[in-house]
Amino acid sequence: NEGALWGGRFAGGPADALAALSKSTHFDWRLARYDIAGSRAHARVLHRAGLLDDGELAGMLKALDELDADVASGAYQPAESDEDVHGSLERGLIERAGPALGGKLRAGRSRNDQVATLGRMFLRDHARLIARGVLDTVDALVAQAESHPEAAMPGRTHLQHAQPVLLSHHLLAHAWALLRDVQRLQDWDKRAAVSPYGSGALAGSSLGLDPEAVAADLGFDSAVHNSIDGTASRDVFAEFAWVAAIIGVDLSRISEEVILWATKEFSFVTLDDAFSTGSSIMPQKKNPDVAELARGKAGRLIGDLAGLLATLKGLPLAYNRDLQEDKEPVFDAADTLELLLPAVSGMIATLSFNTERMASLAPQGFALATDIAEWLVRQGVPFREAHELSGAAVRQAEGRGVELWDLTDEEYAAISPALTPAVRTVLSTEGSLASRSAQGGTAPSAVARQLDSLKAQLGEA
Ligand code: ARG
Repeated sequence: NEGALWGGRFAGGPADALAALSKSTHFDWRLARYDIAGSRAHARVLHRAGLLDDGELAGMLKALDELDADVASGAYQPAESDEDVHGSLERGLIERAGPALGGKLRAGRSRNDQVATLGRMFLRDHARLIARGVLDTVDALVAQAESHPEAAMPGRTHLQHAQPVLLSHHLLAHAWALLRDVQRLQDWDKRAAVSPYGSGALAGSSLGLDPEAVAADLGFDSAVHNSIDGTASRDVFAEFAWVAAIIGVDLSRISEEVILWATKEFSFVTLDDAFSTGSSIMPQKKNPDVAELARGKAGRLIGDLAGLLATLKGLPLAYNRDLQEDKEPVFDAADTLELLLPAVSGMIATLSFNTERMASLAPQGFALATDIAEWLVRQGVPFREAHELSGAAVRQAEGRGVELWDLTDEEYAAISPALTPAVRTVLSTEGSLASRSAQGGTAPSAVARQLDSLKAQLGEA
């Protein structure tokens, strides 16, 4: 069998059941072009070590280029009998370069260091794509914030009305979380940019090959300092899966709000037709499926991480075949986010906000009670007492079924002489918002400064 990379010590071939279990070409074929890039770099270090002469290097690189073109065009496909991408590509190389030359490439490398390196190459490329998609989502949030600079909404804790906030402030809260996710991907790349190539099966190579040269050739910053670590560790994969999962969670939290906001009861947003779906039976339905799928896929991303961690937790050093299970979760995480992010950013970019309704609800539900308490503090009342007095005003208003601004001067005076008519200066959404002007607050002036800071960090991301 040409696609097999072992067999010399065996009297017969593998059982069909083992071959079927062992096979990974149906998912690791995605690494084919990275494998060929690794082979080119490996051929060059073999040449530098005197293990390939000039003509052999040229012949090897030519055959690898042909193979690469055939893989890219689909003319070369893994055969049924190929165990994995590495074996299949050795078969393809030998078909093009002949066994005498093609059979030389495997010297000094193992599938163990290859697969660890190729996985990092794949994930580094996809991390960049995902970061772009997350940045597009941040851009959509920023654009919505900028087109609603003064719009107020009910700020919530425990999903209950808490204090009025600016819609832009709320949207930017999601933007900051997603910006940190982009920064996480960039920080992760420092650890992913270390190449395991040259680690061999586990103990390194005896052939005088230079791992740093391979690393540089493949776009890595450096090569691993420990060949066992290089072949056995997958924490870099798991960290990728973790960042993917937190991106999923962050998108899910935005989505949950969009789902709530699009209900009849909230009526805060209208979804664009292009980003909502209908019902097969109920003609009136307009469903927030993008947001629901985002919420659902967050569960899947968490599952990818949890599955990978479970695979890793009991493994002794160095390589174990369990590690073949490392690829599908991280591939799935990358695919999931690459599918999801354009839909979520498009949904956010096209949301239309019912700003009048949001603003009219912003101060309701006694959301200005904190403003009364803090106004009293500014009049010299201790906060403990101010909290009690404002609470008494809430009780009074609730009993009468009115809002705080509906209480009369006499009612306020009866609660406490400290509650003079001047308290009315803070009994408005505008007054409440404007007063929270320190860094990080929801005052229009503070949110404008926040937007500048966010954009500055976006410029660096
Ligand atoms: N297909 C294998 C994987 O994905 C490649 C490494 C196989 N190494 C081995 N010693 N069987 O992990």
